Amino acid sequence: MFEQVKPVPPDPILGIIAAYAADTNPKKVDLGIGVYRNEEGETPVLGSVKEAEARLLQTQTSKAYLGPAGVAGFNEGMTELLFGADSEVVRAGRVRTIQTPGGTGALRVAGDLIHRASPGTELWASDPTWGNHLALFPAAGLAMHSYPYFDPETSSLRYDEMMEAIGRRGPGDAVLFHACCHNPCGVTPNPDQWQEVVDLAAEKGFTPVIDTAYMGFERGLEEDCLAVRLFAQRCPEVIIATSCSKNFALYRDRVGALTVVTENPDRASAVETVINKLTRANYSMPPAHGPGVVDIILHDEDLRARWVGEVAGMRDRINGLRRVLAEKFRDAGVERDFSFMERQSGMFSFMGLSVDQVRRLRDEYSIYMVDSGRINVASLNAGNIDYFVESVAAVL
Ligand code: LMR
Repeated sequence: MFEQVKPVPPDPILGIIAAYAADTNPKKVDLGIGVYRNEEGETPVLGSVKEAEARLLQTQTSKAYLGPAGVAGFNEGMTELLFGADSEVVRAGRVRTIQTPGGTGALRVAGDLIHRASPGTELWASDPTWGNHLALFPAAGLAMHSYPYFDPETSSLRYDEMMEAIGRRGPGDAVLFHACCHNPCGVTPNPDQWQEVVDLAAEKGFTPVIDTAYMGFERGLEEDCLAVRLFAQRCPEVIIATSCSKNFALYRDRVGALTVVTENPDRASAVETVINKLTRANYSMPPAHGPGVVDIILHDEDLRARWVGEVAGMRDRINGLRRVLAEKFRDAGVERDFSFMERQSGMFSFMGLSVDQVRRLRDEYSIYMVDSGRINVASLNAGNIDYFVESVAAVL
């Protein structure tokens, strides 16, 4: 069976983990995969998570199956986070949330759902988008296309071109958006621009698919749900994939949710049955530990407040690093203008480096980033930021 199988190259993001681990240079810096790190370079378990895990261990009496939708309290809590405490679409019974193995699991189930519900639907994604979008949606049977998004010349949004391109989409098309902290380019529409995007979606009738993997890392937990809420108010159907990898730092526990907004409660119920069939034929049921933890945090006033503070701490540190980085590049007398670092948000930005420059940084300086020149800003700290700036200045 496997005689004809040839090895394929590692995933461009995940492959960096192994290459970095094998590097013995004490000065090595990993700016690859999107994992938050603190000033000490660690990715600790959040205090709110540790406490909730302790409570879960004490109170859990069974590990019997829960059913395809997973932990009910988690699904309800994620719905409330996304739409707010008193949401009209939720009250109208138009929303269903089911727990999935990570945000990636949610995206894949979304792809399967779209393909099952409306075969032949094509999906438009921003250029660029997260590399795995380009693998997982076609794996679900969807043809993918791109719309203009990031301008490398100005390191900003190609707003007019984007609007013109998505304005050509219509009923039967799906258009993918990143709700905040765009991965990989760090550029997000501002609130006025989001409103116009949403108006366009409502007018043209395409279905918005929203990837919200970094909720809380751009402006705040509420603020970062703006796009989700605006789309849900105006559009009859919206598909949302949420991840708890970053904001709950539950990366390896694989905690995510797929939320679908439909035109009416009957359709929501029908869609839920289809999702349950699709997941049953895939992984049967999602794992319960991580979502159990999130359920406890979201439904305990003190723990929730502690978690909100921890998210704010991560966000503030990243924004602070962005300011320092822009300043250090200015002070280093680098000709290229890196002030865009301060205007962008979230973990990622493009450094505007060629593949050769990225390789030189890896081979000569043990600085690791994705070949596209995307860096994870959250991996910088007082101990490595000067080395990083000097090394980039050297290869420039
Ligand atoms: C990233 O883009 O680095 C993260 O979303 C992690 C991943 O799975 O790629």
